[in-house]
Amino acid sequence: MKLAFVGKGGSGKTTMASLFARRAASLGHAVMAVDADINQHLAAALGLDPEAAAMGPVLGERLGDIKEYLRGDNPLVPSADLMLKTTPPGPGSRLLTVSESNPVYDEIFTEVDGIRFAATGGFVEDDLGVSCYHSKVGAVELMLNHMIDADDEFVIVDMVAGAEAFASGMFTRFDHTFLVCEPTLRSVGVYKQYVGYAEDYDVNIAVIGNKIDDEDDVEFLREHVGDALIGWCTRSRYVKAAERGLVGPIEELEEANLAVLDAARERAVGAGKDWVKFTSQAHEFHRKAAAAWGNDRAGVDLADQIVEDFVLGEHLLHTQTV
Ligand SMILES: Nc1ncnc2c1ncn2[C@@H]1O[C@H](COP(=O)(O)OP(=O)(O)OP(=O)(O)O)[C@@H](O)[C@H]1O
Ligand SMILES: [Mg+2]
Repeated sequence: MKLAFVGKGGSGKTTMASLFARRAASLGHAVMAVDADINQHLAAALGLDPEAAAMGPVLGERLGDIKEYLRGDNPLVPSADLMLKTTPPGPGSRLLTVSESNPVYDEIFTEVDGIRFAATGGFVEDDLGVSCYHSKVGAVELMLNHMIDADDEFVIVDMVAGAEAFASGMFTRFDHTFLVCEPTLRSVGVYKQYVGYAEDYDVNIAVIGNKIDDEDDVEFLREHVGDALIGWCTRSRYVKAAERGLVGPIEELEEANLAVLDAARERAVGAGKDWVKFTSQAHEFHRKAAAAWGNDRAGVDLADQIVEDFVLGEHLLHTQTV
């Protein structure tokens, strides 16, 4: 399952993504967690030393290596230069699984409590809103497009705040999107905006309330997001302690909050995967990117990289020669 955590700045995306990842890993699931936010805080939330994590190799800087690896010997992608972040896999491409080893994971990912973690890399002020930011996140988009994950494996992406998440087709790369929402008008405003953008793309969105103090908070969320609300996390002493550097075993999280994580996981697994949709949307966004700028830069029609009937799914793992 590919899962995104989105929401207003400060709503608790990183907190919920890390708790979800740690809970799933402690139950024995294969878990990958990727920090794709401008503010890189997921490493610390997972209990890694944030300074050490910031020094390590990051996805954004290794985009070239990632392209080189993923293109494999796909004849339609004869060089990494001809690979956009939207270039879909085809025959000969290298596909990824959550728990395999490969040179990209070895180089860029760190293991923490059974979670495979990587970050896109921090963003300096100049990156905001310009292509540099998007090219860093592009490494994640490419990996998601080549990832064959099973229903009981989780690829968790801590996304950028608010509407910036719609700057590329990446919001369609997830089986489920969890919108973390505080009981405030601004937070539900981001939910409404998200639903509006996602409307045409059949995106599964569920709301997880956060920093809930009382029944009034829950009522407020229900009134504004209705059935999309699948549960809520109370204001948590455990989270507060973690914020002070004391990341305790996940089992010590308040019971009601653990139950929310389990409900979210069950929601995603229950809704399942749709590889046909995943593939056709990858193709759609690649066509758009090729026409908008890729073709001009490459001097060829990059839409020709699309192999219509190369539908992703677990069946491909049996045919791939590594
Ligand atoms: N349930 C909770 N109980 C107590 N504190 C919380 C809870 N959820 C989040 N927080 C605190 O709220 C702050 C913001 O949370 P977090 O960093 O997870 O939000 P974010 O949406 O990832 O923010 P950003 O937009 O900056 O990435 C942090 O200090 C975090 O510890
Ligand atoms: Mg965050």
